[in-house]
Amino acid sequence: MATPASAPLLDQNVSKFIAKTHKILINGKWVEAASGKTFPTYNPATGEVLSRVAEGDKEDIDRAVKAARAAFETGPWSKITPSERGRMIWKLGDLIEKHLEEFAQLESLDNGKPLSVARVADVPLAADLFRYMAGWATKIEGNTIPISAGGGATQFLAYTVREPVGVVGQIIPWNFPLLMAAWKLGPALATACTIVLKPAEQTPLSALLLGELMQEAGIPDGVVNIVPGYGETAGAALSAHPRVDKIAFTGSTEVGKLILQAAAGNLKKVSLELGGKSPNIVLGDADVDAAIPGAASAIFFNHGQCCCAGSRLYVESDIFDRVVDGVAQFANNIRVGPGMDPTSDMGPLVSEEQMNRVCGYLESGISEGAKALTGGSRVGDKGYFVKPTVLVNTTDKMKVVREEIFGPVVTAIPFRSVEELAHAANNSNYGLAAGVWTRDIKKAHKLAGMLRAGTVWINCYNVFDAALPFGGYKESGWGREMGHEVLEQYTEVKAVCTPIS
Ligand code: NAI
Ligand code: MG
Repeated sequence: MATPASAPLLDQNVSKFIAKTHKILINGKWVEAASGKTFPTYNPATGEVLSRVAEGDKEDIDRAVKAARAAFETGPWSKITPSERGRMIWKLGDLIEKHLEEFAQLESLDNGKPLSVARVADVPLAADLFRYMAGWATKIEGNTIPISAGGGATQFLAYTVREPVGVVGQIIPWNFPLLMAAWKLGPALATACTIVLKPAEQTPLSALLLGELMQEAGIPDGVVNIVPGYGETAGAALSAHPRVDKIAFTGSTEVGKLILQAAAGNLKKVSLELGGKSPNIVLGDADVDAAIPGAASAIFFNHGQCCCAGSRLYVESDIFDRVVDGVAQFANNIRVGPGMDPTSDMGPLVSEEQMNRVCGYLESGISEGAKALTGGSRVGDKGYFVKPTVLVNTTDKMKVVREEIFGPVVTAIPFRSVEELAHAANNSNYGLAAGVWTRDIKKAHKLAGMLRAGTVWINCYNVFDAALPFGGYKESGWGREMGHEVLEQYTEVKAVCTPIS
């Protein structure tokens, strides 16, 4: 692994930021946790404590929900015009861009991802998301509806209005900390909701820096409240809170089910973006030179810590060896090292827990007869690095084929016919995404139709855009993020009708 000597100097503001003990943002003020407790966030490249953060709990969630409630019901937010609201959201995008280097460094330090990736993916995508959503603030429309009630004796004027759902709780994961905050906050702000956001305990820092920019963007106090803390305490309190109208969650399917139970108390609306075990399919007629790096990036991007990672690689038998050897070669060439080191292509996994989980899967697969063409283990003994791994000789029953690993591990599986393949690809509790590599346009769209997945990428993978809806079939979730689809998750429809004759 490369030495820290080749790492870029920390941005001065980042040094100052990580030296602080971070607080909770409630009603525009930074406050300590009611309990006075703090928790550490770690640098996964070293395992050392990076920063300390106030540990929000039930009482802090309660205070934050009160602030969000007041901002929604009596604050200036509801009187701000859609146009002004749009400008504030756009400004948030500008401010993220202005602080791009700080955000990118924080993301790399807290999550482990390469700084070079955070600079070109996480941070600009977050800025772009806010800009896209800024445009929607002025376009949340209803309909006028011709109705036949009254049998013609009375004429009615009937219309619908889309209103904000109210106070929303948002619980986000650690794989794209800033971008996940943007995906959640953007549509909630565009629809004039107010928010209590709980970042993941592993990576709270970039959301806290974003919180510092709210006032500068002109967003009134109490509209965005940010409560860092643990899932079992702060997260659970938020999802069960009786004064929260909607909860939006991204994370594990297991916790998604807990959120659903917690939400039952007041039947708050729920949207869920959960796990995946996405099939990436290479047909015999594919452009192999594109499919090999495409399949490798589909799994190794963000160290495999993507809900839509192409973790089951299906390759038509006649080109199986060529493609899989190519992917293994690609994996071998990935330079694993600290995210802040410019020579690293892949950083550490986010935490010791995540590294142990991924290594547990590797051991389980190999003990059941899978073979690692490359990788298969941890790298070194400091920091949470795992070698990019390609597994072959798997069977449908193995955990490595069925369960989400959320690490740089792909299982490669040969197939003989498209029908057999479509069945195998859909044979999963998940349905988040899928990839298809072929030169045959008919086969491509036929397969796209057969795959039970929220996104199908044809001759590409991991293409995200603020305008494209994203979300899952089956146990991969409820609802969609991004695009105009997400606005439905943050609005209630009111029908208004009156006789006019
Ligand atoms: P997790 O689902 O426990 O954590 C995600 C978020 O949920 C965090 O903010 C956490 O604090 C919160 N949370 C945890 N328990 C909660 C509860 N009882 N009530 C409310 N909020 C709660 O995910 P974790 O443990 O970090 O990772 C476990 C696995 O989950 C990963 O190996 C991966 O398979 C999957 N995962 C999927 C993600 C996705 O993007 N779909 C993101 C992160 C993890
Ligand atoms: Mg968990």
